[in-house]
Amino acid sequence: MTDKTSNQMWGGRFAAGPDAIMEAINASISFDKRMAAQDIAGSRAHAAMLAATGIVSDSDAAAMREGLLTVLSEIEAGEFTFSTALEDIHMNVEARLKDLIGAPAGRLHTGRSRNDQVATDFRLWVRDQLDAVDQALQALMHALLVQAEAGSDWVMPGFTHLQTAQPVTWGHHMMAYVEMFGRDLSRVRDARARMNECPLGAAALAGTSFPIDREMTAKALGFDRPCANSLDAVSDRDFALEFLGAASICAMHLSRFAEELVIWSSAQFRFVALSDRFSTGSSIMPQKKNPDAAELIRAKVGRIFGANVALMMVMKGLPLAYSKDMQEDKEQVFDAADNLMLALAAMEGMVRDMAARTDNLEAAAGSGFSTATDLADWLVRVLDMPFREAHHVTGALVAKAEAKGCDLPDLSLTEMQEVHGEITASIYDVLGVHNSVASRVSYGGTAPSQVRAQVARWKERLG
Ligand code: ARG
Repeated sequence: MTDKTSNQMWGGRFAAGPDAIMEAINASISFDKRMAAQDIAGSRAHAAMLAATGIVSDSDAAAMREGLLTVLSEIEAGEFTFSTALEDIHMNVEARLKDLIGAPAGRLHTGRSRNDQVATDFRLWVRDQLDAVDQALQALMHALLVQAEAGSDWVMPGFTHLQTAQPVTWGHHMMAYVEMFGRDLSRVRDARARMNECPLGAAALAGTSFPIDREMTAKALGFDRPCANSLDAVSDRDFALEFLGAASICAMHLSRFAEELVIWSSAQFRFVALSDRFSTGSSIMPQKKNPDAAELIRAKVGRIFGANVALMMVMKGLPLAYSKDMQEDKEQVFDAADNLMLALAAMEGMVRDMAARTDNLEAAAGSGFSTATDLADWLVRVLDMPFREAHHVTGALVAKAEAKGCDLPDLSLTEMQEVHGEITASIYDVLGVHNSVASRVSYGGTAPSQVRAQVARWKERLG
């Protein structure tokens, strides 16, 4: 007989229960209870398959399936008492099923193991998250498209090295992020397609001698097919790492945009006004309006990429097949998923609410000799000058303007001609920021016409 305190699920060979510290390090119920719905869905599919293949009776399977629904409703209603002694969600659910339906519950674990069970539950959970991220990314992209369409011809400075480079349009800048989040979206979809195979029925590691139907459970759970190798099915977590990888890259994109919003909303830039709904005040400085949401989005990449690194380190030295180390996968993924979703929602809200300060953007767009490249291009086009020489002549004009303390369009024609005698008045046409952006019609360029084409293309793609 086993000691009463030994584990009721696996305590047959144990004379005593675990030390309290053992229980504390071993139990995962405090966090894996988040997979209750997936666990129950997996068990219901398994029970139906056991009956369809004649491994258990129809009446036992019906009792299991019904009882599992009761367990789910108890959990959803917050009426379920989770037990640390029962370690994890799998054994908590099964033990409660036994309370509810008695002996048939003991047949549920036929032809499976917690190893394939947890791999299945976790895939289902990550798949749901990939779908949620997919939706959140689309919502953010829609918000960016609204901004891009409204400001397809608003001019602002484009930067390299955070130094004024050339004028660009607000819409073009917004659409740059649409491209980035669009690739994040495709990464999420790629990951989903690759991970959608079912581990259930791999059992502990070697498969089972019971005549199970893995196609049936895979189909019932919305998987494309069963995993083809039982050792791989229970022991890899690359699907979770792909989620974390895609999440990390997406969080990095969010962080760069957040950094721009922090800069743009500062008193020194005044490019955008962030809404009160996504800002906070200071407890001591009454004038302050801080872009805290943007700052926190900027910071989230740290924990999300941290989760990616942490799980990579957990996995890298594990021999096949399952090892308990792998239980450390879930908290990392849960935390990363929660924070990515929060960051995406906060960014969407900020983008929807933010107001571009178009006057400031336009003034800044023209400062810092931002149309110097346009001037050089004019010399090439109109005077047939080699670009290198044009670059040199333009540099001399910039130096002249700088010495005079003015911008390029403020130099008189005489002053221009002192640098190069063939310059004519038509040069002023290209020195205005609107002309500058309008001229950049190359595919993917900043011209309003190009931006509108980009917006239309993405609207059609997203639907
Ligand atoms: N709680 C465990 C986990 O998350 C479930 C699998 C346990 N398997 C085992 N052989 N002890 O990994």
